[in-house]
Amino acid sequence: MAGRAATWGVPTALLALGAVPVVSGSLRLVELSGGTATLPPDARYTATPVPVVVHIVCATVFALLGALQFSPGLRRRRPVLHRGAGRLLVVAGLGLAVSALWLNQFVPHVGAAREVLYPLRAVFGVAMIATLVLGFVAARRRDFARHRAWMVRGYAIGLVAGTQVLTLGIGGAVVGHGEMATALLMGAAWGINLAVAEGALRRRTPAHPHPAGAPA
Ligand code: HEM
Repeated sequence: MAGRAATWGVPTALLALGAVPVVSGSLRLVELSGGTATLPPDARYTATPVPVVVHIVCATVFALLGALQFSPGLRRRRPVLHRGAGRLLVVAGLGLAVSALWLNQFVPHVGAAREVLYPLRAVFGVAMIATLVLGFVAARRRDFARHRAWMVRGYAIGLVAGTQVLTLGIGGAVVGHGEMATALLMGAAWGINLAVAEGALRRRTPAHPHPAGAPA
């Protein structure tokens, strides 16, 4: 029972965190493909749908597959699966980050979204690319401690949309949903994710090292 919790506890929590933006992304895809729309059309996406479609597809793969990579049992028992999924994850993560940078640059934003979110998205979009590349290179060099650290950071940056649901829901109830408050609450999600990621990386004790030569 405890083993099962250790194997699936973190992946389950991460899947739950990513669920809302992943579901809203699939509703956006239905709307853009001309299906029964449950989301109102957004003229900014209708004009150039490709980047947002790439963004949503890559984000969905990244969020779902990435969560499973956090299962220690799966990493140990199915290292080949971890490696294959990891490669797909890096491609999806890069697609997510590049499309995010495109949307940030070319979808019109005004007010606080321009002043606060635009620079944050630009910085974290680039940082996400850097973390995934560093994580991949570290894995190729079999430096699994570094690989783990960069991948955890990359996943924390990418999964921001899930945490934004919480910061906007809980923080918005406290400070309101003004334009500036909304932008700051969305930006705070990156701080929270990275703080949790760094805490988790520091808490990892040498009592549970991964087997020599196995992915972290
Ligand atoms: C798992 C992670 C993510 C998911 C599931 C996700 C999902 C989405 C979805 C569904 C949309 C379209 C929103 C709509 O239909 O109104 C969107 C838009 C966008 N996303 Fe993401 N996203 C993720 C990560 C990121 C990251 C890491 C960044 C920035 C570095 C980012 C930047 C953007 C931008 C700039 C837009 C356009 C926003 C606008 O319309 O003003 N996303 N995302």
